[in-house]
Amino acid sequence: MARHLVTSALPYINGIKHLGNMVGSMLPADVYARYLRQRGHEVLYICATDEHGTPAELAAAKAGQPVAEFCAQAYETQKEIYDGFGLTFDYFGRSSSPQNAEITQHFARRLQENGFIEERDVRQVYSPVDGRFLPDRYVEGTCPHCGYDKARGDQCENCTRVLDPTDLINPRSAISGSTEIEVRETTHLFLLQSKLQGEVEAWIDENSKEWPLLSTSIARKWLAEGLHDRAITRDLEWGVPVPADTWPELAAAGKVFYVWFDAPIEYIGATKEWADAAPAQGADGETRDWKSWWYEAVDVRYTQFMAKDNVPFHTVMFPATQLGVREPWTMVDYVKGFSWLTYYGGKFSTSQQRGVFTDAALEILPADYWRYFLIANAPESDDSSFTWEHFAGTVNKDLADTLGNFVNRVLTFSAKRFGETVPAGGEPGEAEEKLGAEVARLLVELEEHMETLQYRKATNALRALWSAGNAYLVEKEPWKQVKTDQDAAAVTLRTAMNLIHLYAVVSEPFIPASAATLRGVFALDADTATWITPEAATSLDAVPAGASFSVPPVLFAKISDEDLEGFRERFGAGSVD
Ligand code: MF3
Ligand code: ZN
Repeated sequence: MARHLVTSALPYINGIKHLGNMVGSMLPADVYARYLRQRGHEVLYICATDEHGTPAELAAAKAGQPVAEFCAQAYETQKEIYDGFGLTFDYFGRSSSPQNAEITQHFARRLQENGFIEERDVRQVYSPVDGRFLPDRYVEGTCPHCGYDKARGDQCENCTRVLDPTDLINPRSAISGSTEIEVRETTHLFLLQSKLQGEVEAWIDENSKEWPLLSTSIARKWLAEGLHDRAITRDLEWGVPVPADTWPELAAAGKVFYVWFDAPIEYIGATKEWADAAPAQGADGETRDWKSWWYEAVDVRYTQFMAKDNVPFHTVMFPATQLGVREPWTMVDYVKGFSWLTYYGGKFSTSQQRGVFTDAALEILPADYWRYFLIANAPESDDSSFTWEHFAGTVNKDLADTLGNFVNRVLTFSAKRFGETVPAGGEPGEAEEKLGAEVARLLVELEEHMETLQYRKATNALRALWSAGNAYLVEKEPWKQVKTDQDAAAVTLRTAMNLIHLYAVVSEPFIPASAATLRGVFALDADTATWITPEAATSLDAVPAGASFSVPPVLFAKISDEDLEGFRERFGAGSVD
């Protein structure tokens, strides 16, 4: 059996992530990791904060903190939110860790030895007032093509033309606004990706056969445009230093690696952080061999999760780096890319604080409500839109009416008529056989969609399982049966309770907190959240007559019109660009 390595794109350290970030990377990775664990696979789910780069430096400056301090705090803030969402990382690391610095430097040395790195002198915009070189997008000015006066140095937002900062008329620093802009010469390391084009192409041909179209089409498009050599160092304070043993002059000049060079390497770095943390975390006595996951790891299947803007880096650029290193590091087997979640058809925007952010989401409702809605509407092939109306409708219908109501009705009614033990008596008949077959069929579907990472379809199968319970109750009407035939009512309720037990297991990857509540309904010996196979599910008899149960509190509260109005007001519904 393969061991499963799962990673989700590393969230940038600056700022709280919004629901779009959540559904495009961490949440689906968590659902998958949980599912695989239920199936008995060995799973390692790794993520981390992406801490380097200019945005982190600027965010720290804005907060009036040294950047290391800012990052340490922001890391804790993000980690707490992800815990709140029930994300089960095996380790959530930090790209500023010494482990990442060590492995990043190792990669760079190997690339150098293999002839894939070259020093080049470049001319770059420098701002004396800011005391720093300005990345292209931090230079603003007037577009030479259309006259738009807030064009960025990398691109004009108005006419979409790609620019070079030196094209801009009246350039100024986007940080300080200073117009005292110079062009200075500076030396950087360049990764000669052009030399690796053929190898990356061959690797894609060989390995992307089963990837979703979204991932392959982006990879192909980038390859078609050709891999260009690119600078992998920057003149910044905060980053992985260029190793002095290999580049003494550049190290002395204070060069650090570009954030996109060290970030994907942090998938490996965080795994080493996980291993190094073992004495503190591994009370279970497990051994943590980070290298067995990443180096000559023939039995590892590696799945990555990310939004589509990250796909080029993961399918083309990072693989080029890994191939150039000429060592057997684990490369990705499956790239699950996502489109955008929009807010009323417009962009979720971190800079403009438009949309719903993960901290605010948890303030107003429990994580399962968000997890369910987001996964059910995951932007897999097309963008999908978040609206409060759609969200409330989905929660009320699927979670409250279909699942919650079923559980509540069955258990309350049975407790009233038969006491708090699973009713005995009677024999399952045709209706139960039909239900068992239906459940088995839906479970096969659910498994298939989970194995192929099709979240909307998987959620449809899960919802159909919940609905099957309601349809069964409507057909059998135990509240009528009980008046004329106690045994018949007992069969119905016992079967329905077995459905509840099944739901507790198969819903776990999606709504883990609610699933835990459901599992607590029956005090079964040696009960685990282990997956129930379709064959085993057919008989619907895992929970035997006589087992005791308790009626849990209402699983999901409905979102009222008043709540809805409040959310719209607080978050500004419908404010499309
Ligand atoms: N921080 C990046 C983003 O949010 C993602 C980095 S993913 C990794 O877009 F490959 F660098 F790890
Ligand atoms: Zn323009």
